[in-house]
Amino acid sequence: MYLTRLALTNFRIFSRLDLQIPRKVILLAGSNAQGKTTILEAAAYLANFSSFYAAADRQLLNFNLQPEPVLVGRIVGEYQRGLRSHTLEVRFIQEFNGSPNAPRFRKEVLLDGVKKRLSEVYGQFNAVSFLPQMSRIIEGSPSDRRQYLDEALAQAQPGYARHSADYTKALNQRNALLKILAERGGDTRQLEAWDEMLARHGAEIMRARVQALKELEEQAAAVHQQLTRGTELLRLLYKPAYEPLPAPKGQMALPVQAAVDRSQLSVEDLEAGFRKALHAAYREDISRGMTTLGPHRDEFRFIGSGIDLGDFGSRGQGRTALLSLKFAEVQWMRARTGEWPVLLLDEIMAELDPQRRADLLVVLGQVEQALLTSTDLEMFSPEFTQNHEVWRVRDGIVMPD
Ligand SMILES: Nc1ncnc2c1ncn2[C@@H]1O[C@H](COP(=O)(O)OP(=O)(O)OP(=O)(O)O)[C@@H](O)[C@H]1O
Ligand SMILES: [Mg+2]
Repeated sequence: MYLTRLALTNFRIFSRLDLQIPRKVILLAGSNAQGKTTILEAAAYLANFSSFYAAADRQLLNFNLQPEPVLVGRIVGEYQRGLRSHTLEVRFIQEFNGSPNAPRFRKEVLLDGVKKRLSEVYGQFNAVSFLPQMSRIIEGSPSDRRQYLDEALAQAQPGYARHSADYTKALNQRNALLKILAERGGDTRQLEAWDEMLARHGAEIMRARVQALKELEEQAAAVHQQLTRGTELLRLLYKPAYEPLPAPKGQMALPVQAAVDRSQLSVEDLEAGFRKALHAAYREDISRGMTTLGPHRDEFRFIGSGIDLGDFGSRGQGRTALLSLKFAEVQWMRARTGEWPVLLLDEIMAELDPQRRADLLVVLGQVEQALLTSTDLEMFSPEFTQNHEVWRVRDGIVMPD
């Protein structure tokens, strides 16, 4: 798939931008602080409905706007998916009603002009982002890794975003109830309704994660073999907070790095087991005032030839593993959705050695469209700049080179 048009209104530095985009590799070149990353951020937003840079959506609204009762920012993306063309629009709306210090902020998403719920628009437009700070996926916290996996799955698996949203809703309710039970006591049977919801949606989430990690691992291991010239075997190890498999006799838990296969477990097995485990954890959960088990506390680790790369890997090892994962994600997304995702690469070339750059160029050659940013055109070969589009970004204006 590919974008044919990207139009922005009051989105960060762009009060107005309207780009027709070819089905090509496009290099956005320019000095610092000109708006290059913002263009990528907007395109990525159409796939993830959250920003990889902003902590909150309200930061995306142009901050130079004159205060008005209602301020609206917009991303409009037109794209071609197979033989069909579609339009996705995201509106960021800030309203001052009454107190000028506390504006209300909301967003709306429209697919082909029709307002949709967020969970209905995931997976309509697919993109894979390569960003400098994606090292967080390996070096960061478990929640960074969950977020990564959730965003990939929301795009590639219909229904995942819905389960994820429903799970979170039930989790918040259950946690609120646990706090009340801890403070005032009460009948623990009140928890059962929430257990039911958590088990139903949690089982779907776990099942999807097991499957996705297995598929990603397969692809990533193959890529990693090539990138490390066969010297390192990459594995993605799922460590669910609720372990559905029984521990071996005489042991408390599964061995740390054992090759465990959970792919045979059905959603029904997972649901029943998880519901039981939730029930068994009542005392602990009430005393801590939170749900201690479930996919919201899942973890997955990167293992390179038996070594946990998050804990013990060198920087270079980590980066290579990430590249393997990202290349794998591109292939995986294509296999799952039948479409090549749009690639978004923010200042990535600068981070790579010549060999890795060459590897990346191969992937760029496969997809229908890629948007790259760079402050330094020198980094690209003359063949590259001749064969691909180069656009200059300067002070919020985009011009073909
Ligand atoms: N909400 C906002 N409203 C207006 N301008 C913003 C907003 N958020 C960020 N900016 C500004 O937009 C400008 C462009 O940012 P962007 O990250 O797109 O630049 P860039 O071209 O990628 O630069 P670099 O090469 O340094 O990465 C920056 O000067 C930034 O301060
Ligand atoms: Mg930038």
